[in-house]
Amino acid sequence: MCGIVGYIGFRDAYPILVKGLHRLEYRGYDSAGIALMNEEKNLSVYKTKGRVNDLEEYVLDKDISGTIGIAHTRWATHGEPSNTNAHPHYSQTETLALIHNGIIENYAVLKAELQKKGYTFHSTTDTEVLVQFIEYIKQLHKCDLFSAVQIALGQVVGAYAIAVMEKGNPDQIIAARKSSPLVIGIGDGEYFIGSDASPIIEYTNKVIYLDDEEIAVIKRHEEPQIVTIGNVRKTPQIKELEMSLSELERGGYPHFMLKEIFEQPQSLTNCMSGRINVEGTNVTLSGIIDHKDKFLNARRIVIIACGTSWHAGIIGEYLFEELCRIPVVVEYASEFRYRNPVVYPDDVVIAISQSGETADSLAAIELARKSGAFVYGVCNVVGSSIPRNTDSGSYTHCGHEIGVASTKAFTAQVAVLTMMALTIAKEKKTIDDKKYTDTIKELQNIPGKISQILDLNEEIRQLSYIFTYAQNFIYLGRGYNYPIALEGALKLKEISYIHAEGYPAAEMKHGPIALIDNEMPIVIIATNDTIYEKVVSNIQEIKARNGRVIAIINEGDEVIKSMADHCIEIPATKECLDPLLSVIPLQLLAYHIAVNKNRDVDMPRNLAKSVTVE
Ligand code: M6R
Repeated sequence: MCGIVGYIGFRDAYPILVKGLHRLEYRGYDSAGIALMNEEKNLSVYKTKGRVNDLEEYVLDKDISGTIGIAHTRWATHGEPSNTNAHPHYSQTETLALIHNGIIENYAVLKAELQKKGYTFHSTTDTEVLVQFIEYIKQLHKCDLFSAVQIALGQVVGAYAIAVMEKGNPDQIIAARKSSPLVIGIGDGEYFIGSDASPIIEYTNKVIYLDDEEIAVIKRHEEPQIVTIGNVRKTPQIKELEMSLSELERGGYPHFMLKEIFEQPQSLTNCMSGRINVEGTNVTLSGIIDHKDKFLNARRIVIIACGTSWHAGIIGEYLFEELCRIPVVVEYASEFRYRNPVVYPDDVVIAISQSGETADSLAAIELARKSGAFVYGVCNVVGSSIPRNTDSGSYTHCGHEIGVASTKAFTAQVAVLTMMALTIAKEKKTIDDKKYTDTIKELQNIPGKISQILDLNEEIRQLSYIFTYAQNFIYLGRGYNYPIALEGALKLKEISYIHAEGYPAAEMKHGPIALIDNEMPIVIIATNDTIYEKVVSNIQEIKARNGRVIAIINEGDEVIKSMADHCIEIPATKECLDPLLSVIPLQLLAYHIAVNKNRDVDMPRNLAKSVTVE
């Protein structure tokens, strides 16, 4: 949430910062701003409501010279999107400029204290309070900027990733983090700062990930100094980025979301590679095998996640219970963290997250670890906070996901959960050899079957025109396809802004059936599984009330074809792998409806890719 980029070196900072902001725009996009210091050591801040393009227009007649700068693209928390609330924020004397990602929880108290001392505020943000507070500390203690930041952050409650510049000091940027990611890229005589690696990868693949409560002093000609808020000096750990630049480009697709939907055959192949043997007879996840006893002796599995990752978690529940016979509960991380849950030391907690930075999931992990549970991360972003704060885990390896609506990360999460369940089931001997190898072999067929479904893209696009102006949608599914109904509905509402509800199909008669009339589109996933007949009955109930049925069926299902208004035919697979296929047409349907409605598919209103605030 919110994008941070910074540069200090020998090149013009502005083009690097603006390009970085474009790369980070998926993290937040309601306003953008930049601070630059020119040769005369003057510090200028330019900012505006709107997108990065608006900022570029705004600075056309401004001095954008300088080889040091910081820039920000915002997702509003405190204060509406506006020119004044945009970052960077100046301090009272305009000698400091600061950008911030996160929330300062005690900002109101700090602000009141500063106001009593005569400080005035232009914005309604918590960020302006922080920069004013740093300046106040600097003046009070007559100290340098690093010490002022250190003392100020010691008194701040909340989450932050910040970068600060000081007028008259063109050789230094101070950066710090707590519960919000920050990466420093190491170039040759130059440094880059990013809230993730995407603005950095073009220039260097050597990075330092700051840890919580670390402050970095980044000087032009020196190695970064890293010191904690408690004044402990740290040795910077330099890591190599695995990301490639092409992952950050649309590659000819009109939107990242469509590109990412179409990447799924390859992203799933990558996800399984090195884990399933060539013969398709064995699957091994080292993160599980290294901690086998934890899983074999687990009293239960608790899955914590948010949004789409939570939907993957429900599929995980079905998989672990069916294949491993371990009781599972799936919790929204945001509820789990505050409801004083019972967590046993012999629980295994699985945290699922694309970004690895979701604030609620991180807090839930902390709670689980304090209770003594073993915590396993299923994450996409390598080196993000969740893998660094869990006992073990598996990466989903689906590549950088940029579209705000998660697609390829979801299928990779489901694939990892399937491989986890198979690995544990084999160790626990809760699966027979035939079912084990049959499932692995079929898992290997999934990328090819997804390619077949992607061939239906044009057919689904045509179908989307019929439903573009629907006001509401209902999505229904049962068993393994119930979480897919939830996911299909979430995809549609996120990017088209059409109200959509996902339900277990049998629950329909307990309430939602009242919504059905001849205007209500109902998407029902009706593949040929063990409860197929029941789903057929559900379709009949809908048709009896004149609902308009769009059914996701297996190829050649004449029974449902004769009942439904529209059918999308997908290849058959094993029941537990159904979600990996049935979600694909729903991703495409949501995408096309949103495009028909002229929505900003990759950057839908009010959303951001990684939710690093509560
Ligand atoms: O990065 P995470 O997987 O932890 O993110 C969780 C949710 O914020 C995320 O899945 C969100 O619901 C997406 N916009 C769904 O498309």
